[in-house]
Amino acid sequence: MHSSWRCGALSLILIALAGCAEPSSPSGEAAVPDDATMETPGVPQANLAQWARSCALCHVRGEGGAPPAGDAAAWAPRLAKGEDTLLRHTIEGFNNMPPLGYCMDCSRDDFRRLIRFMAGES
Ligand code: HEC
Repeated sequence: MHSSWRCGALSLILIALAGCAEPSSPSGEAAVPDDATMETPGVPQANLAQWARSCALCHVRGEGGAPPAGDAAAWAPRLAKGEDTLLRHTIEGFNNMPPLGYCMDCSRDDFRRLIRFMAGES
């Protein structure tokens, strides 16, 4: 029995700082790998910006049946159609998927990278 009430009362703050029960554990910051920066490997920053203001509108929450970004199970049957088909559907539109996916300044190569990025293969 050793200041457990304090631990309980302050646990939220203490967890945020370093952890009450394990004073010798490393700080929370150390758990983040060195390469966890804003830039995703293989995806240029410009493409991420395009993605954030177009594809992300629907492909984050699966709006209208869109396969959510990073959801490998949702993307597997899409990828099975082949990249050329996916690229064509992105440019021409496909059911609820609008032509160009709202990205007016995306090139074909940009679309390829965005599709790979969302399908989790970059
Ligand atoms: C307005 C919402 C919306 C936006 C914006 C959007 N999508 Fe989609 N997308 C969808 C929906 C809905 C589907 C599912 C269509 C279906 O399968 O019927 C889809 C499907 C797709 C598919 C799979 C097509 C296939 O043949 O299975 C690809 C690839 C895709 N989107 C790429 C993109 C890219 C790249 C962007 C951004 C440049 C984008 N989408 C922006 C709604 C959107």
